[in-house]
Amino acid sequence: MKKDFPIFKNNKDLIFLDSTSTTQKPSYVINWISEYLSNSYSNIHRWLYDIAINSEKIYFDSKQKVAEFLSWDSYKEIIYTYNSNYALNLISQTLRYNKVLNPWDKVLVSIVEHHSNIVPWLILKEEIWIELEFVNIKDDFSLDIEDFEKKYDSRVKVIALTHISNVTWEIFDLEKVWKLKRDDTLFIVDASQSFPHIKVDVKKLNCDMLFFTWHKIMADSWIWVIYAKKELLEKLNPVFSWGWAINEVKQCSFRSSNLPYKFEPWTPNITWALSLLKALEYIENIWWLEKLKEIEDKLVEYALNEFNKRDYIKLIWGKNLKSRVWVFSFYISWINSLDIADIMAENNIAIRAWQHCTEPFMDYLGIRSSARMSLYIYNSTDDIDKFFKVLDDNFK
Ligand SMILES: Cc1ncc(COP(=O)(O)O)c(C=O)c1O
Repeated sequence: MKKDFPIFKNNKDLIFLDSTSTTQKPSYVINWISEYLSNSYSNIHRWLYDIAINSEKIYFDSKQKVAEFLSWDSYKEIIYTYNSNYALNLISQTLRYNKVLNPWDKVLVSIVEHHSNIVPWLILKEEIWIELEFVNIKDDFSLDIEDFEKKYDSRVKVIALTHISNVTWEIFDLEKVWKLKRDDTLFIVDASQSFPHIKVDVKKLNCDMLFFTWHKIMADSWIWVIYAKKELLEKLNPVFSWGWAINEVKQCSFRSSNLPYKFEPWTPNITWALSLLKALEYIENIWWLEKLKEIEDKLVEYALNEFNKRDYIKLIWGKNLKSRVWVFSFYISWINSLDIADIMAENNIAIRAWQHCTEPFMDYLGIRSSARMSLYIYNSTDDIDKFFKVLDDNFK
């Protein structure tokens, strides 16, 4: 697959094992962005000339493609925004603004959450005194459903859980959660790590809202997707109200526009939308998620086998191959994870180290940090061999 990704042609020795953080972009995406900006760029939503109509179609097609990938029917429930923190802050502040969340209500998250699904709730804790409670995981790293049931009392108004942890790579069985969920609770899913790897079906997950970041699936950075149920979005007023989010403005009143634009209060980045459309087309036309999973399974098995040969490395993972994806968080007891990443960098191998924006989880595990290598479709067993050679040469 490397040949599809110009970065590897331009950096011959680069071994990129940090795709959990962000993925490289195929020429299919890059060329389309260049083509669009060179030949038919314009603003959208308000003009009737040819290139504006073309841009409008790109923006619409992009959302429709996302809806298809999520097994959803309508682009109207797809909102584009910037990044994870922005998406979650938009959600949490909108829930506060619309009094869906009130003082003394409780939000349940899991202990493995990324900071982006913790800090916005902590801000609400400071602002309106909500309570934030953490559900534990079991020894096999799956969600502890008994602990969830214990903590899911009548004060809980929001359950916000990651689909896959960016540290343990355990796929949470969220079906168990929605089966227990009451009608008075919103169920929000962070699909940032699942959408790039496995089929995410919002009908099956039965969640009220779901969000993910698309630079992790070969599109450009700084854009997030929020999916939310229409009945919910129609009830909510946007907490930010300007630009395109407004339908009518009088001297003493205004009216918000319709879905999904009432939550997109700006001229959007159409190039980002195009990049997601093309990234999803790339997966669809060339590989499909099933094929992606096939490549992934082979690489995971190979890497895991190599990890298992080495006693000096401690892996953070749930030991169930079927409920994980292609990421390996690990530590070596006598060395700081940053030093591991440093030595890798000296050998032109890109990995990530430290707390992966999951400090409460690191505290829970009783470790200070970990290193993390992650694979994607452009990696090969050769890359994995080189990674282990550097580890063995320096730390064995
Ligand atoms: C589970 C999860 N949520 C949120 C994020 C944050 O995404 P972004 O880097 O686009 O802000 C990440 C990124 O690693 C993640 O793994």
